[in-house]
Amino acid sequence: MSHKIVSKKQLSENVFTARIEAPLVARARKPGQFVIISINNDYSERIPLTIAGADPEKGTIRLIWQRVGKTTAELADLQQGDEIANIAGPLGRPTHIENFGLVVCVGGGIGNAPLLPITKALKEGGNKIVGILGARNKELLILEDEFAQICDELIITTDDGSYGRKALVTEPLEELCRCDKKPDQAFVIGPAVMMKFCCAVTKQLNVPTQVSLNTIMVDGTGMCGGCRIEYDGQPKFVCVDGPEFDGHKVNFDLMLKRLNAYKELEQKAHENYKKHRCKMGLDKQNI
Ligand code: FES
Repeated sequence: MSHKIVSKKQLSENVFTARIEAPLVARARKPGQFVIISINNDYSERIPLTIAGADPEKGTIRLIWQRVGKTTAELADLQQGDEIANIAGPLGRPTHIENFGLVVCVGGGIGNAPLLPITKALKEGGNKIVGILGARNKELLILEDEFAQICDELIITTDDGSYGRKALVTEPLEELCRCDKKPDQAFVIGPAVMMKFCCAVTKQLNVPTQVSLNTIMVDGTGMCGGCRIEYDGQPKFVCVDGPEFDGHKVNFDLMLKRLNAYKELEQKAHENYKKHRCKMGLDKQNI
């Protein structure tokens, strides 16, 4: 069964969002879960994408992705009305939601997408939410308005100071964790290196922290080992044991090494696709 793109929008230079027909996933999904898609057929690359939202009545899910490689570039070239061959999911364990009290939700770059449904569920669960969103610059900041509607307080940081506070997200996070009334729980989602340093801050200041990991994935069912991480000294699979983990127990250095293992091949595939889209005249579209 293929899945029609109902609507599509560009959020920043390389970030896109689309609502896609997937009625069974839309009904079953819970915050924190993801899907694995293959665009053309069973031989296409399979990529994991977080479900950023869903409308069970309309039978659609919302995906947000960053154009970083061949498949995400291919996905960005699809338009409203086009179809995606396969969507498998919902996969992974849903986020554990309870009334923790004061929760800080920290998002970096494309990490704001998986963080959004979790923040919404935490708010609905009765928590007071402080959001911290970080980006390299103003143009790359996504979903600010949607977070502003949910969070009791929202802090924006940019690396270059072009918007909000000129800082890394770790700075306001540390200040918050040093307050008398420090957060009861933190959720941090973003680039692995950002999660690593946020977890170093919260570990030192004793704030329990959940992270959501976006590793390389192939099957998404615990069989290929592509998504393996070291957690509390033990091997775990992000697709079936996660994607959320206690951030204080994740070996981020090993994860970063494994994430870079296919960088060269990924870059080559992306370059080839760019040449192909140039020949097809797709580069003339405004995307
Ligand atoms: S993606 Fe294959 S084991 Fe997780």
